[in-house]
Amino acid sequence: MAELRGLPGFRDFYPEDLAVRSHIIDVWRDVARRYGFVEFDGPPLEPLEIYTKKSGSEIVAQLYQFEDKGGRRVALRPEMTPTLVRMVGARARALPKPIRWFSVPQLYRYERQQRGRLREHFQLNVDILGETDVLADAELLAVAIEVVRALGLSPNHVRARVSDRRLLGAMFRRVGVAEDQLLAVYHVVDRLGRESEESLAGRLEKLGLDRAAIEHIFALTRLSGIDQLHAEFGDVEGVSEVVGELSTYLSCLENLGVRDYVDIDLSIVRGLAYYTGIVFELWDAGRELRAICGGGRYDDLLQALTGVDMPALGFGMGDVVLAELLRERGLLPEYRSGIDCYVVAIGDEARGEALKLAAELRGAGFSTAFDFAMRSPKAQFKSADQMGARWAVVIGPEELAAGRALIRDMGRGHERAVDRERVVPELREVSTVDSDG
Ligand code: HAM
Repeated sequence: MAELRGLPGFRDFYPEDLAVRSHIIDVWRDVARRYGFVEFDGPPLEPLEIYTKKSGSEIVAQLYQFEDKGGRRVALRPEMTPTLVRMVGARARALPKPIRWFSVPQLYRYERQQRGRLREHFQLNVDILGETDVLADAELLAVAIEVVRALGLSPNHVRARVSDRRLLGAMFRRVGVAEDQLLAVYHVVDRLGRESEESLAGRLEKLGLDRAAIEHIFALTRLSGIDQLHAEFGDVEGVSEVVGELSTYLSCLENLGVRDYVDIDLSIVRGLAYYTGIVFELWDAGRELRAICGGGRYDDLLQALTGVDMPALGFGMGDVVLAELLRERGLLPEYRSGIDCYVVAIGDEARGEALKLAAELRGAGFSTAFDFAMRSPKAQFKSADQMGARWAVVIGPEELAAGRALIRDMGRGHERAVDRERVVPELREVSTVDSDG
């Protein structure tokens, strides 16, 4: 019979794989909550137009889209931001500002298969809406950095690369990029590091830029560090203010305790079309993998999609590259499957009591299993071992007669008999003693 396979780019999560995903998502939720964000969710299927309007050509080309039975054009969500904007837009007046929301959606993009890019992924989204102050930008990046720090990644492992679309826009206009070419130029520059400069220069040429302008653009994207920006733009009207704001941003990050992860790097522009201000990406320090995280300000998106004028900023952090990096650095917790108790029943008469005991243990919160076929004690102990049971709780004819049960510590190998009604209290006691230390 032909082998049944899943689709390329879609993952099966066997228990040990799911443990990795859960570890990452647990840290995401924990950090987002610690930073005062609340969780929301939306539907995985949305009207197509919420993506075609503003997300940009790359993401639109990757959509899983179709017509539903009611004749609506729909798409599986490739990103969360348009859903968030739709939901906030619908209750814009009622929601107290600033809105601090996070979400952990599974997203779908028909990507070309490559390392770190799949056709589905989980993505932490953290967004702040209704706030213009640059402190919100700093807070946002601090959350992203805190997540990688909480996962054990140091500034030697991960760098946050910060840039600003206003700065890039002003610089590109100065070298002759027309307003209607800006997005296309951003899109090309976003591919720096993934595609050769020569091939990118070719694309810029196709957009109508001359060699001098192209060289200039590449030179500008090489600028890094706030001092270089001050030197280059300190007295350029309309740009110096942005540089000043970036300085404030950096000192906020210093006070928030994450500055040591951050570099200014103007080669970052972000692929998505809707960003308007400070943008950033998190990368592995060696830049061998793809971006771990990306985000920034998108002050015009609510207006464009919902007619509500509200500033906003946020980021998305995917699970795929992050898991790869954690695995490479040996920072994933050891996979441990296991249950608390395995009830071993010896002889047919013990069966009823064994099931009652299992129910009692489960009621008390102990994960508990037993043998369905009530095979030989040896086979049952073997199962207990395979399932990683911490204790085997044994009921045989002798225990039944004496109103007792035998508790065997599977790791240490010792066992003792206790009164039947003492099983749960005894196990509770040893659990607390063990977890205390
Ligand atoms: P994005 O840069 O498209 O931004 O995605 C953010 C992160 O999601 C990436 O850095 C990467 O880790 C992960 N990611 C994206 N596509 C894939 C894929 N095909 N396979 C594996 N991982 C992937 C956004 O989606 C924005 N909506 C983020 C945002 C939220 N901006 C504001 N708020």
